[in-house]
Amino acid sequence: MCGIIGFCGYLNAKEELIKGLAELEYRGYDSAGIACFTDRGIEVVKSVGKVAGLENKLPPQMESGCGIGHTRWATHGGVSEVNAHPHRCGNVTLIHNGIIENYHELAKELEKTGRTPLSQTDTEVAVMLLDSLYKGDALEALRGTVERLEGAYAFCIMFADRKDEIYCIRKGSPLVCCSSEEGCAVASDMVALLRYSKEYFVLPEHQVAKVTKNAILVTDLEGMEVSPVMLSINWDMSAAQKNGFKHYMLKEIHEQPESIRRTLAPRMKKGEYILPDFSEDGIEDELFLNVGRIVITACGTAMHAGMMGRILLERLLRIPVSVEIASEFRYGEPILNEKSLVILVSQSGETADTLAALRLAKEKGAKTLSVVNVKGSSIARESDYVLYTHAGPEIAVASTKAYTAQLTAFYLLTFRFAYAVGKLTAKEVSGYMQGLNEVGELMEKMLEQKDRMKELSKRLTPAQDLFFIGRSLDYALSCEGSIKLKEITYIHSEAYAAGELKHGTLSLVTGGVPVIALATQSDVFSKMISNVKEVRARGAMVILITKEGNEAVVENGICDEHLVIPASHDVFAPFTAAVILQLLAYYTSSYRGLDVDQPRNLAKSVTVE
Ligand code: G6P
Repeated sequence: MCGIIGFCGYLNAKEELIKGLAELEYRGYDSAGIACFTDRGIEVVKSVGKVAGLENKLPPQMESGCGIGHTRWATHGGVSEVNAHPHRCGNVTLIHNGIIENYHELAKELEKTGRTPLSQTDTEVAVMLLDSLYKGDALEALRGTVERLEGAYAFCIMFADRKDEIYCIRKGSPLVCCSSEEGCAVASDMVALLRYSKEYFVLPEHQVAKVTKNAILVTDLEGMEVSPVMLSINWDMSAAQKNGFKHYMLKEIHEQPESIRRTLAPRMKKGEYILPDFSEDGIEDELFLNVGRIVITACGTAMHAGMMGRILLERLLRIPVSVEIASEFRYGEPILNEKSLVILVSQSGETADTLAALRLAKEKGAKTLSVVNVKGSSIARESDYVLYTHAGPEIAVASTKAYTAQLTAFYLLTFRFAYAVGKLTAKEVSGYMQGLNEVGELMEKMLEQKDRMKELSKRLTPAQDLFFIGRSLDYALSCEGSIKLKEITYIHSEAYAAGELKHGTLSLVTGGVPVIALATQSDVFSKMISNVKEVRARGAMVILITKEGNEAVVENGICDEHLVIPASHDVFAPFTAAVILQLLAYYTSSYRGLDVDQPRNLAKSVTVE
């Protein structure tokens, strides 16, 4: 949430910042701004709207090798130029990602020093506070400032009298740093730094990075130098570009077979039987023994992956598993102990509520395992165990490849867990693993049918309301299909457990209302068909999704459109059915002429609660 970048080096800072902001734009895109050291001092330019608008506004004479940039997702204060970052007070200019919770009380105090905020943001108090404490010693001022701040922050700061230096500090919100021959750079995530280097470090919390042209010096707040842990990424620039696709979302939908294969490969150890192997992840079978309860907690799409995980784990392990929305879990009173395993799921590894849920789970003595896509992210670093998904960078706000990679991780986890506790034999696990291995190919087959989904989306484009129904794994997938559709098409949609429809929601199903019915699970197939008949009888426009082999059962007139996923074990049907739901959402959004990759009001990485 909010993208921040800083560059200091031998290139044109203004251009570097704009490039970086364009790459970080998915984190927030209601306004943007940059500040650069020039011969005339620190110059600030801000603009409402997207980064492209800011770029058009930059004066050509803004020559600089050092500056900071910000793309905003409004939390405190509406969308306006005055609320856009960077913010400036006296000697200090800064950008911020996070939320300063005690800003109100600090603003009152600072007013007494003659400093009055111009904006409605929480950020401005941090600039004012820092300016009030800055007497020429940056570390001393930072020490005093962070002592007073409550909440989360990643700051990039410029002091007017310290030309070509950027100071960074963070708590909660992410910040990664890298250096190269062209200069040194910091950003909210690696996507914006990849043009400089594949080697980077995460700035440790409460430590200060002083960024200059040739080096990044990291010290603690007392000035003692520290050596942060270097990390490297295993994808390149092309992974973060559109590569000929019209939108990132479409590209990422197509990348799923590959991202699943990448997630499987390091865990697929073939011997007499194929068993999931987590030795490279440092996860021993011992973790699975003596688990009395599993809680999965996450937000958004990651939580939907958790819903699927719950069904699989509970079905095969016979251990109680619950799924909790992280923002509810963290303020609830979860019953956890050392026999509980809490699984956190997060693409970014930075979602504020999921991170807080993790910390609470640890505090309560539970074991924690996270399923995370971004290497070195906060959730990954703080969990006892991490199972990385290898989906590569996901840029579109609507998550697709991260979701199916998260499902893959849950399948691997379930099979290994079941084997470790003796609920499945090696032979049984091997059978499942063969199925999982074929999922990528099945998804490719599904993608070949994309024109069918494109055509069908025309029927959804005028809809005002839409319903997804399913049972069991199909219900979990319905929830994901529904969120995908509503976030990018702005059509109101709901997912319902098909059997629950008649307890209220059926009253909303009237003539022509689209209902997307998932019927891929054999054990509840006939029940689903009855539910489909119920909505059809009320005049719904039904799109029915079944598995190859069930065509005969689908009688004439039961649905308006019938989509068929390739034959597989029922348990793997969500992968291919997910492709259908993603493509329907994608094409419907395109037909409605909307911004598919950056839907209104949303952001990809939600680092505020
Ligand atoms: C935001 C994104 C979703 C994502 C959710 C959780 O709402 O738009 O796509 O599922 O955050 O994010 P995480 O990074 O924790 O998976």
